[in-house]
Amino acid sequence: MHMANNEKTSDVAAEYTAIRVASLRGDLKIPFDAFVRVAGKHILYCRQGDSFEGKRLTRLKTKKLKKMYIRRDDVVPYTQYLEESIDAAYDRNSKKAIGLRAEVIQGFQQALAEKYMEDPLDEFIYTHTRSSIQRFTEFLQGEPEGAAAILQLTNVDQSISHHGVNVAVLSVAVAQTTDMRDGNPLHLMALGSLIHDIDLDLSHFYESIAASDTMSDEARAIYRNHPTQGAHRLQGSKFVDQMVINIITQHEENIKGTGFPKGLQEREMDPLVIVVATVNAFDRLLAFEQMSPKEAFKTLFFDKVGLYPLGHLQALQNLLKTYKMV
Ligand SMILES: [Fe+2]
Ligand SMILES: [Fe+2]
Repeated sequence: MHMANNEKTSDVAAEYTAIRVASLRGDLKIPFDAFVRVAGKHILYCRQGDSFEGKRLTRLKTKKLKKMYIRRDDVVPYTQYLEESIDAAYDRNSKKAIGLRAEVIQGFQQALAEKYMEDPLDEFIYTHTRSSIQRFTEFLQGEPEGAAAILQLTNVDQSISHHGVNVAVLSVAVAQTTDMRDGNPLHLMALGSLIHDIDLDLSHFYESIAASDTMSDEARAIYRNHPTQGAHRLQGSKFVDQMVINIITQHEENIKGTGFPKGLQEREMDPLVIVVATVNAFDRLLAFEQMSPKEAFKTLFFDKVGLYPLGHLQALQNLLKTYKMV
């Protein structure tokens, strides 16, 4: 008995497994305890029976916690909780408010994006993410108010994966309103959008837009290389769709040929990638430069005139108006 107890305390980490905080969303009560790890110890943080919506969720997000831990014995209840929660959120006939459904759906995609970006050579996670984004794309197309509700959720912690979800939502919406819907693999565009910044390190981005000294020159070079580096991380994986690779490598290009890393011309780019590049430029201002949708749109429309197709910008403006964001 004593022996067993000793073993237990000496190998306590093995009793816990990590989960993504983004997967804890909505009014469904969690059937497990969740812990945070502080100095090698697991401390109870959320109790069985807690739920994550509204202000409580915002508070949790501002903690910038990406992972929590659950007891290994709770893996099955956790998986059941996830499935139940996402199925209820996608249920069109659900009595739940669209804002609450959107929170769950957004968090679910964000958790998947984080999981894949951490392990980009894992084919199983890729395939799982791809089929899940297909359901997500159908939801966005079928329930535009759901898309609007997702965009209402502020990216309080400058999360790259949250930015990825927003770029996916806006790309699908713009493609849908600009007659690119038919025959185009919109779910692959959404998947590429979700993980487009796989190699982005925000510290380089912030340094590169700050005062230009030697330090920021170096940071700028690294920043401008994130699309190429991102694609390198997928090298050797034959299962990744070409559209996804194109989005990762070309999302910082523009139609004037002044983008990076290659300064591609419009004719060299896939039309869907141009959509992603346009909405990425917009959401980056929101996510990482704390602009309001109105300011971000003005910046894109006036300061960066000619970089993106006018039709896309107009479609974006109309959407933002419909969503009551500007
Ligand atoms: Fe980027
Ligand atoms: Fe981005």
